[in-house]
Parts: sequence; C-alpha cells; structure tokens
Amino acid sequence: MSRFKKHVFVCTNERKDGRSFCGENEGIDIINSLKKLVREHHLSGQVRINRAGCLDACSYGHALVIYPQAIWYGHVDKSNLINIFEHSILDNKIYKPLQINF
Ligand code: FES
Repeated sequence: MSRFKKHVFVCTNERKDGRSFCGENEGIDIINSLKKLVREHHLSGQVRINRAGCLDACSYGHALVIYPQAIWYGHVDKSNLINIFEHSILDNKIYKPLQINF
C-alpha cells in the first residue's frame, strides 16, 4: 500500500546549455499553487506535491507527472493547473488537452 493516494512530481529543472527546460521559478509557482489547492481541499497527507529534476519530457513545455496513475502533463502553468487538479487529483480522470502521450 502506498503512503500517499497521489504523488505529483513537478519539474523545476534549469539548464544553461541552450536545450529546452521547464524552469525553477515556474516550477516553484506550480508547486505552491498545487499545495494551496491540496490544503483547500483538505487533502494534506493524502496528496503529496514534490519538486523534481528533469522528467525527460523537456520538449512538452512545463511538465509534471502524477502517480500512481502515471499521468503525464505538459504545457502546465498556473492558469491551467486547476483543470489538472480537478480531473486527476479530485476525479481520477485525465485532462486530455494537456496530457503527454509519449
Ligand atoms: S527540464 Fe523539465 S522535463 Fe526536462
């Protein structure tokens, strides 16, 4: 049995070599917004939000992944985060417009 019902990993990777990357400031903003949503929905202890290094999804815009379903999202920002939260954290569904299909 896993410790958390949902575990979200948000990329905060930065690069200085010209390759694309998600970015630390944007990643921290996403993390803080997700943590706020978790608290507001009384899910602390059930849903864990963590920063991550490169998730190897760099060409899909800002990336995150939600386990245990292993749902990958790209082009995530604060404006579309609520859609991911409502679909994948609250309803166990996939928000198709931002889903990464490798
Ligand atoms: S830098 Fe974010 S997935 Fe690679």
